[in-house]
Amino acid sequence: MKTTLCFLFLQLISSLCSGELQPELNNDISPLGKELTDHTRELQETPNQQQTCKEDVNTVLREMSAMLAEQRVEIRQLQKENQGQTAKLESQKTEFEKQKIEFEKQKFEVEKQKIEFEKQKFEVEKQKTEVEKQKTEVEKQKTEVDKLKQQLQGQTAKLESQKIEFEKQKFEFEKQKIEFEKQKTEVEKLKQQLQAELSSLKARTNVTEIHVEELKTDKELKQVAFSASLRVSGAETLGPFNTHTPLVFRHVVTNIGNAYNPNTGFFIAPVRGVYQFDFHVHGPGHASHASGAVLVKNGDQIFTAYEHQASYSVNASNGVKLLLEVGDVVYLKLWVNSRVYDNENHLSTFSGHLLFTM
Ligand SMILES: *[C@@H]1O[C@H](CO)[C@@H](O)[C@H](O)[C@H]1NC(C)=O
Ligand SMILES: *[C@@H]1O[C@H](CO)[C@@H](O)[C@H](O)[C@H]1NC(C)=O
Repeated sequence: MKTTLCFLFLQLISSLCSGELQPELNNDISPLGKELTDHTRELQETPNQQQTCKEDVNTVLREMSAMLAEQRVEIRQLQKENQGQTAKLESQKTEFEKQKIEFEKQKFEVEKQKIEFEKQKFEVEKQKTEVEKQKTEVEKQKTEVDKLKQQLQGQTAKLESQKIEFEKQKFEFEKQKIEFEKQKTEVEKLKQQLQAELSSLKARTNVTEIHVEELKTDKELKQVAFSASLRVSGAETLGPFNTHTPLVFRHVVTNIGNAYNPNTGFFIAPVRGVYQFDFHVHGPGHASHASGAVLVKNGDQIFTAYEHQASYSVNASNGVKLLLEVGDVVYLKLWVNSRVYDNENHLSTFSGHLLFTM
């Protein structure tokens, strides 16, 4: 409609330019009608208006009146339509209000839900914070656990190394134990050997002791020596006798081994061996009696010492080495019909000793 009015206005302007403006305008058409009337009045008030345009203007005005009438109809129709649409709009408005209420209701509901959501969100944030806290706690504990794990691993490694060391020492100990057992066996063997040796040594010692005892006895037996003269004191002449008569030498100077008996004049051999015997006979010179003695062994005459002078004195001596058995008896006999003298000077003597055993 605005476009149409503009068009009309432009047409009016062009009409004015050509001097055909018509002053009568229908005042019913307002506000456009009024505007147009105002323009017309201005145009009418212009004193120098060309008379030539008057007819054209009237034509245009007539046309415009027709058009306006036409448009009035149209407007009425439009007004009618407008009323219809207004009613429609009213109903739509009511509908819209209803929907708006509904919307407000829903909006309230949404707000409520939003609050609820915010509440839940806050709750969730709280829980999230809590979870973060717990997560941090868990991380801390994890770190702690890792630390402990590392410590444990370290201790485990240490334990393993100690275990290895222990096993090594155990092995060493077992080795030493075996070695010790071996040495023990060796020692036992040595002990047995030593005991055997000790027994044998003891036996040998026993034997040796016996030998020593024997040797001691033997030595004592071997220590045999004696010397004796006829008279202990005073002077005496023995004989003559018509048979060989045993002589008893009573003055003992030496009698080691006590093999000589000064009461019997017998020497009895204590051991088997070779013995040396010496005898000296001193006698006064006499025409009919000599001085002499014979050494007798078990009744057998062995050697004789004999001398005869008519005056003064005589000295007869002899010696012999004899192998004697144990118990053999050796003594001196005064030679038959002879004489022997002795005094404190010990001139007539009998001596003997063991040279060596056999
Ligand atoms: C040693 O000899 C004695 C006497 O012959 C005997 O009784 C004793 O048992 C002997 N001892 C040993 C250890 O042979
Ligand atoms: C015999 O021995 C004694 C004592 O030694 C001595 O006085 C004497 O003269 C000796 N007789 C002879 C003949 O030598």
